[in-house]
Amino acid sequence: APSPVVAPSILAADFARLADEVRAVEGAADWIHVDVMDNHFVPNLTIGLPVVQSLRAATTIPFDVHLMIEEPRRWAPGYADAGAYNVTFHAEASDNPVSLAKDLRAAGAKAGLAIDRDTPIEPYLELLPSFDTLLIMTIKAGFGGQKFIPAMLDKVAAARRHAKAGHLELRIEVDGGIAEDTIAEAAAAGADAFVAGTAVYSAQDPAEAVRKLRGLAAR
Ligand code: DX5
Ligand code: ZN
Repeated sequence: APSPVVAPSILAADFARLADEVRAVEGAADWIHVDVMDNHFVPNLTIGLPVVQSLRAATTIPFDVHLMIEEPRRWAPGYADAGAYNVTFHAEASDNPVSLAKDLRAAGAKAGLAIDRDTPIEPYLELLPSFDTLLIMTIKAGFGGQKFIPAMLDKVAAARRHAKAGHLELRIEVDGGIAEDTIAEAAAAGADAFVAGTAVYSAQDPAEAVRKLRGLAAR
């Protein structure tokens, strides 16, 4: 199995010092997770393309962009053009996920599909060959600092079984409430990419927190 990826979420960082906050995990983080919210798909508002474009120059860490927005077709390719490594949009917001995934790959990015808390995984399993990443929310999308929902790991396990059976190269990413006390069970269920906001940026030493999390995911 590929080695686990830890992606600190800058949603939990100081937005006035984003470049410094990203550099604080340089050398430790595999990806930087960027939560884009539009106050329509979720009842919260964060940052958009101009901030990602500017931040891209501040670090060499690959960007994992998580679009919690309506009309992802209108915006997602712009993030690929801005140099994002992976661009993930929500299944609930897209009427043709496979077509958008193709566009993202054509624009040079990995394509990710996100599944929110109340969405079952089964209807989407057959789409997975078109995607590089599957993001399973382990909370309801919209806010950091929520409590991990263990029942979401059934979706992770189902997706991992499906990916194995089909010999798919698929990263399965979990997002929400990932911390020292939850990451191992998520890894055991089949996740191999781990978003952590609060657990990284509320730590005294964010880089050390990332390394510790990766160690717990690898066992
Ligand atoms: C919430 C975001 C998450 C958030 C996770 O909708 O998608 O990426 O930053 O925050 P924690 O790790 O604090 O649960
Ligand atoms: Zn996220």
